[in-house]
Amino acid sequence: MQQERLLKVLVIGDLGVGKTSIIKRYVQQVFSQHYRATIGVDFALKVLNWDHQTVIRLQLWDIAGQERYGNMTRVYYREAVGALVVFDMTRESTFQAVLKWKVDLDCKVTLSDGRPVPAVLLANKCDQQSQGLRAGLPRLDTFSREHGFIGCYETSAKDNTNIDAAIMCLVDSIMASD
Ligand code: GTP
Ligand code: MG
Repeated sequence: MQQERLLKVLVIGDLGVGKTSIIKRYVQQVFSQHYRATIGVDFALKVLNWDHQTVIRLQLWDIAGQERYGNMTRVYYREAVGALVVFDMTRESTFQAVLKWKVDLDCKVTLSDGRPVPAVLLANKCDQQSQGLRAGLPRLDTFSREHGFIGCYETSAKDNTNIDAAIMCLVDSIMASD
C-alpha cells in the first residue's frame, strides 16, 4: 500500500546567503543572479518517490533572513522535522550567524519526542571560493559536528553543486529516525 509523508523542512540563514536560490535550483532547476529579498516566508514543494511504498511531499519553508522578521520564526518553525542552515562562504558575518540560527532553531522547535530537529549546514556560493574566506573558516566538518549538525556541504546554487546531496542527507536522516 502506498503511503504519503509530508515533511516540513526549514531553510534558514542570514540575508542574501542563497536560501531562495538553493530552493529554486532544487525544485525548478533554475538559477538567477538577480536578488530579491524574501518577505516573511515562501513555500516550495518537491514530491519524491522515496521507495515502492512511500511518496514524500517535501515542503520547503524559505524564511527571510532579514532581521526584522526574526521574531516570527517561532510561528514558522512549528512542526518542522528538519532544517537547512545556510551561510555565504564569501561573507564571514554570515558564518558567524550560523550558531545564532542553530540556537534559535533548537530553542523554538523540537521533534515530538523532544529530540532536536536534524539540521544540515550549507556553505553556499562555493563557486566563488577564490574570493572567499576559506582560510579564515574553521574546518567545517569539525565545526558542524561540534555544534550538532548531522552533516555539512559546500554548495553552489549557481553551479548546482551538492544541493541534492545536502537535501538527501537531511531527508535520509528524517526518514531513518522514525
Ligand atoms: P533573503 O531572502 O533576503 O534572506 O536572501 P536569500 O538567502 O534567499 O538569498 P537569495 O537566494 O535571494 O540570493 C542572494 C544573491 O546571491 C542573489 O543575487 C543570488 O543570485 C546569489 N546567489 C545565491 N546562491 C549563489 C551561489 O551559489 N553562487 C553565486 N555566485 N551566487 C549565488
Ligand atoms: Mg530569499
